[in-house]
Amino acid sequence: MAADLSTMFTGVRFRNPFLLSSAPPTESESNILRAFDAGWGGVVTKTIGLHPVVNVIGPKTKFLRADADSAHLSMKKRPDTALHSSWNWELISDKTLDWWVPRLGRIKQAFPEHVLVASIMAGSGNDTELRHWQTLATACQDQGCDALELNLSCPHMDRQDMGSNVGKDKELVSIVTHAVKEVARVPVWAKLTPSTTDIVVEARGAFLGGADAISSSNTFTSLPLIDVETLEFEINVDGLVSTGGLGGPAILPLSLAKMSQLTQAFPDRRFSGIGGISTFEHALNYFLLGCGTVQVCTAAMLDHAVGPNVIRELTHGLARFLEKHADKSWRGVDDFVGLLRQRVVAQSAIRRPDEKEYYGGHQTAEGYAAPEEAKVGTE
Ligand SMILES: Cc1cc2nc3c(=O)[nH]c(=O)nc-3n(C[C@H](O)[C@H](O)[C@H](O)COP(=O)(O)O)c2cc1C
Repeated sequence: MAADLSTMFTGVRFRNPFLLSSAPPTESESNILRAFDAGWGGVVTKTIGLHPVVNVIGPKTKFLRADADSAHLSMKKRPDTALHSSWNWELISDKTLDWWVPRLGRIKQAFPEHVLVASIMAGSGNDTELRHWQTLATACQDQGCDALELNLSCPHMDRQDMGSNVGKDKELVSIVTHAVKEVARVPVWAKLTPSTTDIVVEARGAFLGGADAISSSNTFTSLPLIDVETLEFEINVDGLVSTGGLGGPAILPLSLAKMSQLTQAFPDRRFSGIGGISTFEHALNYFLLGCGTVQVCTAAMLDHAVGPNVIRELTHGLARFLEKHADKSWRGVDDFVGLLRQRVVAQSAIRRPDEKEYYGGHQTAEGYAAPEEAKVGTE
């Protein structure tokens, strides 16, 4: 009998806690139908706005890879490399709300048991923009969407009142969340940007506005590398580039640090973990730090565009993990969510070796000079 991997998150039942995040894997009806067929418990649609956007000419996303036997990093496709990260400067969906509305309804009819979350984005700072959020929210929930995710985190919007520019302002985060909550009949998740000094501040704003959960992380602001042969950025248009977002393996530890701050500050709240996940091992880190669901983008993009092998590995991994810990009577992720949350402490709370142990001839820690060598440099 197949293991029961189901979970409740913000009042919504998921057949498994694994979602495709808002990105190219969820940009179309056909992709989302394929994703549900493949076994994803839920999807967050590519962010839907009111006005059409136009993306740059040429590639919107590229993948940075590391050579196995050198420190060389490049976006050029070549053998014997490992994925380092994705880099993108793709805007929100280039399809209008009118395009999305009938499709959301059809997807929900075809897969009523799968969770469809609509990611939405508008501006902020005046009543007209706040009404745009409400229009988007109402239209999506009327089609049967199970939850709404507020994109307060896209790192490459020029408009000062959109995306991560909103996510960096705790008051705007709160106001936008509150405006959506006024019309929402379904749970509202706020997707925050990692590009702030203390993400707990913006999270508090979202919860004050009534958010039912926080999703984190969106991509990290970054630049593509310069090709030493051509002296051009590896991704550019007419020699020009702007900052974009880093995702994939490189951001897993960064995003975990943000998540740990969030779950410690709000231990009773709900969190959806995103960033660098491609296996159950990665997802487990987020669960143990306090996330109830997790979301995947880069790994799915590189696996037949919607991640059929990734979701198989995630669900099999969770089933194996539950079986391995059968003696603990863990019946689902909720039984181990947050188990390691309190293990992240201040540096000063970490035990120190005594004098003798410290210089006592123990093996030098990997990456550090031996105590005698370090002394020479300081004399
Ligand atoms: C090409 C691309 C487009 C994206 N578009 C959106 C978007 O429209 N809305 C959004 O909230 N996040 C967007 N994201 C961010 C992802 O949903 C996700 O938060 C991020 O990529 C980190 O997850 P990963 O490490 O699994 O890629 C996009 C990411 C990529 C790579």
